[in-house]
Amino acid sequence: MDKVLVIGAGFMGGGITQVAAQAGYAVHLYDSKPEAIEATLKQISWSTEKLSVKGKIKDSAKAVQDRISVVNDLSIAAQCQWVIEAVFEEEELKKQIFKDLDERCKPETILASNTSSIPITRLASLTGHPQRVIGLHFFGPVPMMKLVEVIRGEKTSDEVFKKSVEFVNSLGQYPVKVMKDIPGFIMNRISGAAFREALELVEKGIATVEDVDKGMHYGFNWNIGPFEIADNAGLDTYMRVGKAFQALGAGNISVSSDLLEKMVAAGRLGRKVGKGFYDYTPDGKMIPFDVTSLK
Ligand SMILES: NC(=O)c1ccc[n+]([C@@H]2O[C@H](COP(=O)([O-])OP(=O)(O)OC[C@H]3O[C@@H](n4cnc5c(N)ncnc54)[C@H](O)[C@@H]3O)[C@@H](O)[C@H]2O)c1
Repeated sequence: MDKVLVIGAGFMGGGITQVAAQAGYAVHLYDSKPEAIEATLKQISWSTEKLSVKGKIKDSAKAVQDRISVVNDLSIAAQCQWVIEAVFEEEELKKQIFKDLDERCKPETILASNTSSIPITRLASLTGHPQRVIGLHFFGPVPMMKLVEVIRGEKTSDEVFKKSVEFVNSLGQYPVKVMKDIPGFIMNRISGAAFREALELVEKGIATVEDVDKGMHYGFNWNIGPFEIADNAGLDTYMRVGKAFQALGAGNISVSSDLLEKMVAAGRLGRKVGKGFYDYTPDGKMIPFDVTSLK
């Protein structure tokens, strides 16, 4: 079975690690912060045990967990067939990681980014082998969401694109093929437009957060509304992605607003800290936050 290296053990990297291990891959996990690894391993152990009790994974939770090993640097990359990068949404940081990986990895290793917005062609630009760089854009929480956009950079080879679609299928996820490398790809352009509109309606006092979310649920059959989606993804991540869109000149999908900035400045980063557009109580309740109280 192929070996996978995941770089970045946050919300997304942890989820990608889990689904790859569930699918039978040996997964190496690296993060520059040991505390991120510790938190992610705890989350994976909680989640795999829950999925195992519900009969949703074919192997035991322990068997899945045993396929995951933590590494302290990137030297293991030389032995892996797949490397998936899921660090902060910062172009220079990602570019340096791809340059470093390109020097370490065998030419046939496929280098993937989980970027939400940055064109794959730009991430591949400092590498000597841009044909093996691809976008694998997972959706969070990865163990629950079955979608991965497979994004073709300008120089991605046909073979790497085809193998990547097969890889996504092997994880039990649905691959949506993005044939041209545009900022925001497909899904974030659509959901970014909805979130931008939702923020404006709330900022102008036309609707409450709760009514927008309930409206999309009852009126359009969305499982959860745009604000709850943003809370799940992390408002700091949304802000970074919005800034990345702006820097790329992807005007109509740029998500930047005073309200979002104020929420992040107030530490209301979403579900991961127990407070965002909603307060999340330990017994699982969601209480809408009054955004007009923010200064
Ligand atoms: N949050 C979402 O819903 C979502 C969805 C799809 C894609 N993404 C993308 O996935 C990526 C990660 O997002 P996230 O939500 O997991 O963020 P996160 O903040 O939860 O995790 C990022 C992790 O990267 C680590 N990191 C930073 N620099 C590093 C380095 N040089 N080497 C190794 N590790 C490093 C951090 O310590 C952190 O643990 C971003 O590109 C984001 O745009 C996020």
